[in-house]
Amino acid sequence: MIFTVAIDGPAAAGKGTVGRAVATHFGFAHLDTGLLYRAVGAQVLAGADPVEAARGLTPEALAAPGLRSPEVARAASEVAVIGEVRAALLEFQRSFARREGGAVLDGRDIGTVICPEAEVKLFVTASAEARAARRLAELVAAGVETDFGAVLEDVRARDLRDSGRAEAPLRPADDAHLLDTSELDVEQAVAAAVAQVAERLGR
Ligand code: DC
Repeated sequence: MIFTVAIDGPAAAGKGTVGRAVATHFGFAHLDTGLLYRAVGAQVLAGADPVEAARGLTPEALAAPGLRSPEVARAASEVAVIGEVRAALLEFQRSFARREGGAVLDGRDIGTVICPEAEVKLFVTASAEARAARRLAELVAAGVETDFGAVLEDVRARDLRDSGRAEAPLRPADDAHLLDTSELDVEQAVAAAVAQVAERLGR
């Protein structure tokens, strides 16, 4: 069976959590496409050329340590505005989406650019404050020293860059289901997403 679930939304809205849970629930493969941009961003921080880093990206690079840090997130958001970087990462994402057995991809442009034909599209969002509070809790748990104001500023700066860029800007596809997680806990957000997929699968 070929079946793609496209999940898009801004930073820290819960796409990754929802995506992983949906994939586990239905036995689909899962790709966090932000990791592709983070891996390129990390290599650029180490001195690489962004386009060459994107063209030479290997699956092992997606498991590199440190890809979750705020510095790498910022570098990822910066390399993501480069059209040649996005083009270099396109084919890998498309073939992952159409693999046998079902796939969930989360990112910024999955429903609009990578998989316009996805069987289910979800746009997962939440207020900037709710997202900053969640990101802060993650960072504190990971031992990173920061505060709410700095994280909120970072979230807003990334929103602006991700939505304002010319190439594949962050926006909901016309046929995406909106899922606002501001007032939902993880279980509620996952249940809503699972219900959308189950309905389309006729299960
Ligand atoms: O989802 P994330 O925070 O790991 O993504 C890091 C950055 O990568 C994000 O700020 C924008 C970019 N990105 C993108 O442009 N397109 C995607 N499909 C996924 C991420």
